[in-house]
Amino acid sequence: MTPTKIERRTLIAGTIVGLAIVVVGLTVAIAAAQERISVISTAVVPVATSTVTVPSTPSTAAMNATSSASTTVTVSGKGTYALDFTLPTYGKAGCLVCHGDKNLVVAQGDLTVSYWIDEEAYSHSAHSTITCTGCHTDYGYVAPHTLSAGQDWRAIAKQSCKNCHPQEYADWNSGAHAIRPVGVGQPDPKAASKPLCGDCHGSHFMPVLKDNPAGQAEVHQQAQQMCGQPGCHPDYWANYNDYYHGAAYKLGAPDAPACWTCHGTHNVLISTDRTAPTNAENLGNTNSCGTPGCHQGAGPAIATYVPLIHGRDKITESNPIVQFFSSIFNRK
Ligand code: HEC
Ligand code: HEC
Ligand code: HEC
Ligand code: HEC
Ligand code: HEC
Repeated sequence: MTPTKIERRTLIAGTIVGLAIVVVGLTVAIAAAQERISVISTAVVPVATSTVTVPSTPSTAAMNATSSASTTVTVSGKGTYALDFTLPTYGKAGCLVCHGDKNLVVAQGDLTVSYWIDEEAYSHSAHSTITCTGCHTDYGYVAPHTLSAGQDWRAIAKQSCKNCHPQEYADWNSGAHAIRPVGVGQPDPKAASKPLCGDCHGSHFMPVLKDNPAGQAEVHQQAQQMCGQPGCHPDYWANYNDYYHGAAYKLGAPDAPACWTCHGTHNVLISTDRTAPTNAENLGNTNSCGTPGCHQGAGPAIATYVPLIHGRDKITESNPIVQFFSSIFNRK
């Protein structure tokens, strides 16, 4: 019996699908093999300590000190603030006398910068119980806000965290994001592009995570802000696009992995590091793809899927069979 037109189409399509599977499989296998080769040739990154110095939390006496200087700041027609700190500036209340005022905006060139801290939002954050000078260790006892030349108050506030969260600091400091001198007297040339605690976490409104599913969910969806921000990994945010992980994540699936679910949170290591959970040799492990609840028991064979996580678009675009399909069906 001669096959009908429809049956013939099904047969041809079936053959093409079969071929496509073989080619995709081969591409994936080759990519996986290349991955392993690069793993073998890479040296272990030496661990050194950070050179960044953060003042320790000042003593209560220092924080309660008042200044005799009398300077005033007039804020773009909104009012005049006496910056002589006759109030003790220890605690939140002292700082919020001024920073609790919505009108505290400062003109910087053409821009208006708000220095208002929303006390209500702050009181619901993870740091509701700590004082402003807990992070702003260089404030309070320096009154008025006279910063010495080159004093980088932002960088100080963004890493003062280490005084209270030593474990996270130790983890960050042993990962790829740590700032390490490359030699004696040679600072890390990449220091400026590496994230300090505050670059990922923000400043005043970090949600409580412990025993707080809403806060955990909020942070879970922040991969683009944290990892994909300009100057960091916008490319890997864009190519995190496979159907099972990235595409689902971007649609807001609560169980789809965020970047740090696979890469680790603070001790982030490049995948060529033999101890990284993303290293080809470790993928089957229980701290990697084999995590209970993910692909428990998957074993090393899971490696064949990995190139698709960040490479789906590239693999499908460069695949001749897929291109052929696209030209027939006019879709990717
Ligand atoms: C008397 C009012 C007043 C008090 C009290 C006050 N500030 Fe300020 N603060 C200002 C004003 C005005 C500015 C903006 C002008 C400036 O930079 O000096 C400012 C700016 C800042 C900035 C940004 C600095 C910059 O250079 O852009 C930080 C951080 C800050 N304050 C933290 C604090 C902390 C922490 C406290 C409590 C220890 C505090 N302030 C207490 C009025 C005050
Ligand atoms: C958990 C650490 C932390 C605490 C606690 C904290 N700050 Fe900040 N603050 C920061 C960081 C980090 C920045 C720099 C933000 C940036 O550059 O993006 C900042 C920036 C600021 C600024 C500049 C304007 C802005 O919003 O960027 C002001 C003013 C300020 N803080 C005041 C305060 C006051 C007042 C308190 C207490 C009510 C306080 N901060 C508590 C970490 C903190
Ligand atoms: C590259 C981004 C990034 C940097 C840099 C970073 N963190 Fe985190 N941190 C995260 C993420 C994401 C989470 C949430 C992890 C989760 O939900 O499982 C987190 C969680 C935390 C927690 C909650 C408890 C925990 O460990 O999960 C603390 C505390 C914390 N970070 C402190 C710090 C400190 C201190 C630093 C600087 C030494 C820092 N972080 C640097 C991304 C970062
Ligand atoms: C003066 C001490 C102090 C400083 C400085 C500090 N924290 Fe905290 N942080 C705390 C306390 C206390 C808590 C709430 C108690 C706890 O850990 O469960 C907390 C909670 C957190 C949480 C939520 C943890 C959870 O499980 O709910 C994160 C995230 C966090 N801090 C990050 C930071 C970052 C990032 C910085 C620096 C920008 C910073 N902290 C600076 C004391 C501090
Ligand atoms: C499902 C697990 C998984 C998730 C989620 C994931 N990655 Fe990856 N990522 C990997 C693996 C495995 C590699 C190494 C193989 C490769 O390059 O494809 C990798 C490689 C990378 C690299 C190259 C450096 C290296 O370690 O080889 C960067 C940068 C990166 N990922 C960033 C991100 C960012 C940013 C996100 C979130 C938008 C993300 N990843 C989400 C598994 C993941």
